[in-house]
Amino acid sequence: MSRKITIIGAGSVGSTIAYSLSQEELASEIVMIDINKDKAEGEVMDIEQGTCFRESISIIAGDYPDAKDSDIVIITSGIARKPGQTRIDLAQTNVNILKSITPQIVKEAPNALYVIVSNPVDIMTYVFTKISGLPERQIIGSGTILDTARLRCGLSEQLQVAQKNIHAYVFGEHGDTSFIPWTGAYVSGVHVDEYVEAAQRMGKDVKPINKDAMIEYVRKSGGVVIAKKGATFYAVSRSVCQLCKTLMASSESVVTVSSMMHGEYGIEDVCLSTLTLVGPEGISGKLPMRMNKGETEKLKASADALKAVIAQIDL
Ligand code: 2OP
Repeated sequence: MSRKITIIGAGSVGSTIAYSLSQEELASEIVMIDINKDKAEGEVMDIEQGTCFRESISIIAGDYPDAKDSDIVIITSGIARKPGQTRIDLAQTNVNILKSITPQIVKEAPNALYVIVSNPVDIMTYVFTKISGLPERQIIGSGTILDTARLRCGLSEQLQVAQKNIHAYVFGEHGDTSFIPWTGAYVSGVHVDEYVEAAQRMGKDVKPINKDAMIEYVRKSGGVVIAKKGATFYAVSRSVCQLCKTLMASSESVVTVSSMMHGEYGIEDVCLSTLTLVGPEGISGKLPMRMNKGETEKLKASADALKAVIAQIDL
């Protein structure tokens, strides 16, 4: 079955997503579009010349008409953060780029599932939802899927247990107001706090989780990596690749992605991440994870912070 994925933006994130996808049996066609055609062509050549070791796959550098009837469109275009910059600093510039891209791609692929990755991703997901005219179920912001992955990486190290057994999530903005609803943080079926006690009873050197330090680790990881190597692209690309797998699977999965809120937790008219059911038809809806009062207040604070940015954006 032909499965076509178009990636708009051949920067470090877009090209690494293309490379990640080329290592999977997900897409039969990958189209890369970038305003810098040489860059797109160079990335495609470099990826394509390693595909002799796998089943045949079509990877091209093209333009919007080449994206016709894509199953998934991944939007990564925009300027990336520099050391010391926040994602919000990029807002209007990247919204302007999105406004130029949107009509061109929607015309060619009105039925695609759209994965918005460009930062600030919650703002970009909101703007795309508002200007694309597409059903909201087709619009998925990568949101905190990366933050949740970072959280599981950090908790796995601290609790000395496999990441696959950690079910903990990051909610809210993909940014400085994100938070961890610890109420819903488990190792398999054991709440993380009880897991620590059980591991200690087994004589393991596992310390109680420093929850303030853990959310700081999650929030700051992007900035730390950018300061050290100039950009982040591996973890975010694996996160997006996994999301594409989910969007092409036969059954739905629960992930923390950014989408429009319609009164959940008393929040509306903003995009942010909570537990979301996604699958081949896009977003089915959000799951009402039980949170305590403090956690609900943090989600509302994150929504308010994003709304304050949206209020300043020229849509
Ligand atoms: C990050 O946190 C790219 O915003 C992304 O690495």
